[in-house]
Amino acid sequence: MPEEIVTPVAKEEPASPIGAQAPSAAPQVPPPAAPQVATIATLGQHEGQSVILRGWLYNSRESGKLIFPIFRDGTGTVQGVAHVKSVPERVFTALKGLTQESSVIVTGKVRADKRAPGGYELDVEDVEVIQRVPESDPYPITLKEHGVDFLMEHRHLWVRSPRQSAILRIRAEIMRAAAEYFDSNGFIRTDPPILTPAACEGTSTLFPVDYFGDPAFLTQSGQLYIESTALALGKVYSFGPTFRAEKSKTRRHLTEFWMIEPEVAYCDLDGLLELAENFLSHIVQSVLKNRGPELTIIGRDKAKLEAIVPPFPRLRYDVAAEMLNQAHRDGHLEAPFEYGNDFGSPDETWLSNQFDRPVMVNRYPADVKAFYMEPDPKDPRLALCVDVLAPEGYGEIIGGSQRVSSYELLSERIDHHKLPREAFEWYLDLRRYGSVPHSGFGMGIERAVAWICGLEHVRETIPFARTLHRIYP
Ligand code: 4AD
Ligand code: MG
Repeated sequence: MPEEIVTPVAKEEPASPIGAQAPSAAPQVPPPAAPQVATIATLGQHEGQSVILRGWLYNSRESGKLIFPIFRDGTGTVQGVAHVKSVPERVFTALKGLTQESSVIVTGKVRADKRAPGGYELDVEDVEVIQRVPESDPYPITLKEHGVDFLMEHRHLWVRSPRQSAILRIRAEIMRAAAEYFDSNGFIRTDPPILTPAACEGTSTLFPVDYFGDPAFLTQSGQLYIESTALALGKVYSFGPTFRAEKSKTRRHLTEFWMIEPEVAYCDLDGLLELAENFLSHIVQSVLKNRGPELTIIGRDKAKLEAIVPPFPRLRYDVAAEMLNQAHRDGHLEAPFEYGNDFGSPDETWLSNQFDRPVMVNRYPADVKAFYMEPDPKDPRLALCVDVLAPEGYGEIIGGSQRVSSYELLSERIDHHKLPREAFEWYLDLRRYGSVPHSGFGMGIERAVAWICGLEHVRETIPFARTLHRIYP
């Protein structure tokens, strides 16, 4: 295989300086423009021109003298047409029987076609096969249906399918828009460490690491560290991988996932709810604006996403608990809800199904929530916290709270939760020196992708999912 693929690119004529006279009056006939390298997503800019596409053969249909190869190049797919009479013989021979996922460089003329999914077809002129997949060892993912286990085992190839690559493009847009929201609203990105000496979200889901003979853990959340940078910089966020040794095998849990977390000094719970609704709306509207074709490829109902604009409903935990019990009495839920518990998956699913926008459930009993949450001054048994539940049954995508700002209370909580005090001395310093009310939340990117794409399971929301029973490929 060649190391570097060099393709001809049309050279631009140097522009003549303004006012300069051509030295000779002889009429110049411009040479025909050489085809340019293009991408399938931007074929519309090249209608009627010959272009070069560098990609792979996704599928091919043959009928006698005609071949209809479908090419993909990472930006989309396009159908080509090659008639035995209209292409050189070697081109027809190369395409005939060409195997799925062979890599090819194709030259062809772009033709608008209303029936084509992307609006264009390619009249093939030339083709160069870079690597032909041998018949004796064909591409394992054929175009018929495969089971999920088989596909996950071949995830390194599955990502090439139009549906999976559309999801990954939407994921990238969600991450871009999320960071853009904070970057353009005065937040400074500060990256917390991934190797940490202590737990942030409970000690039962820690991944231990041997740190030169000392125990350490992979981070569960950057929160504690960005509380520090928020008190240094005002408004900050972090964005990176986080880890939970989740023993649960659900459609919402990964052991490695990406979290984006804002943290704001002098912000209370009300301010945090406003931030969350504006942030989520910005992401969803950006996906609609920039990844419309991908939403179509995966069959997402766009009207459901168009409804995602502020304000979002706010629902107190006690009201939610009452709704769940009523739902149980009405026969919509199997089990009654016990006040004081955290919501189970069926509870969250039912609750989030009651609204057309994310619902912001707030003020849970402090006992079921994390040690760092500020108590509600009106009822200290409740925490000033929020879980944002996505509609259509997707459940929690954001968790956040106002943070304990008193040194004495935080110190008491650390002891009460039996957390190792030495590891939290630095965190207590944030309450010793210039403590202020402050708040933040975390959104799991994969949960957001699952909801926005309308997917069954988080395993398709990340290039390589890490779950209880999978760490291959
Ligand atoms: O609700 P969580 O546990 O909150 C925190 O970690 C806070 N320290 C965040 C903060 O306030 N800065 O997690 C936040 C979000 C969840 O709402 C969910 O979207 C995602 O992280 N998440 C997971 N996503 C996939 N798999 C898992 N196992 C997840 N655990 C949490
Ligand atoms: Mg949570």
